[in-house]
Amino acid sequence: MSDVRIDPRELRHALGAFVTGVTVVTTRDTDGTPRGFTANSFTSVSLDPPLVLVCIAKSAGSFDVFERVDGYAVNILGEDQRDVSGVFATDTPNRFEKVIWSDGPAGHPVFEGTAAWLDCSMHERVEAGDHVILIGRVEGFHAHSEAPLGYCRGAYVTFGLEQDAVAAGGRDARIGAIIEHNEAVLLMEGPDGGPALPTGQCLGEAKDPQSLHGVLAKTGLKSELGFLFAVFEEQGTGHLNIFYRGTIEEEPGSLKGARFVPFDKIDVDALRSSADRSMLRRYIAERTEAQFGIYVGDEKSGYVHPLATTKGNT
Ligand SMILES: Cc1cc2nc3c(=O)[nH]c(=O)nc-3n(C[C@H](O)[C@H](O)[C@H](O)COP(=O)(O)O)c2cc1C
Repeated sequence: MSDVRIDPRELRHALGAFVTGVTVVTTRDTDGTPRGFTANSFTSVSLDPPLVLVCIAKSAGSFDVFERVDGYAVNILGEDQRDVSGVFATDTPNRFEKVIWSDGPAGHPVFEGTAAWLDCSMHERVEAGDHVILIGRVEGFHAHSEAPLGYCRGAYVTFGLEQDAVAAGGRDARIGAIIEHNEAVLLMEGPDGGPALPTGQCLGEAKDPQSLHGVLAKTGLKSELGFLFAVFEEQGTGHLNIFYRGTIEEEPGSLKGARFVPFDKIDVDALRSSADRSMLRRYIAERTEAQFGIYVGDEKSGYVHPLATTKGNT
């Protein structure tokens, strides 16, 4: 055995770089009760015979159930199903009342609105450290046209809209960023003095003051935009809002017209734009939810927000 010391935080950070989909793995307990948990450890294994796997933590509340059942279904969530992922990743009561489901061909709950589902019989269970690998044999499956939900570095990502979103960035688009650093988010002083998320008319370049990059550059912050966070049309104005998650490249010095406000001090209602308010509310909610989001490691030892921290600070 190697005596190299592995820092679990560093390991989580490294593993979080692997982009996955998001699934909810379901079964029926021996008394028929539906059970399920959110999992991104799903992997396809073999086509002949058709095998897949998912890893369940021994600490999961439903671990005992998955130890005794004869199969499970894998629901591959669609990009509109972040809330479903949240429900099955937290101790929400009556989880199955929050989804429309029916029994799949092998008798395990399959959801509506998924990108695909696979219903499996239990092929083998393999002990693996603090998890057990559940290898399933696919007995039936269905693929839908929904774009899948993605997951990377503790946050949900979507793929389907990204290209359209960038292409649509024009006069009527509002391109914004949520830049997190040390448990705080970057807020600008809006035109009326109230707080606002940094936004521009396009992504642009630092030299264009109307662009998001230009707006950020004016504050003196060296930032980098990462994943697309949301794309939606604002009711009333009809503006297309495209928000990215960002990180900072170096410790911020004194900022012009902007400041980092700690999450617990943000007065979300004070933001004038309803788009900003809904963005921030969702971001804060998903940030909390993401504490459950990395299935390796110990939830209690603290969550690392890799995109939001500078190197050496994770
Ligand atoms: C995106 C995401 C992926 C997850 N992947 C897994 C996983 O692969 N295996 C696992 O055991 N838990 C995983 N979890 C955590 C479980 O969903 C969470 O612990 C859940 O509460 C377990 O439900 P239970 O306690 O009813 O079993 C994941 C959570 C999220 C948000």
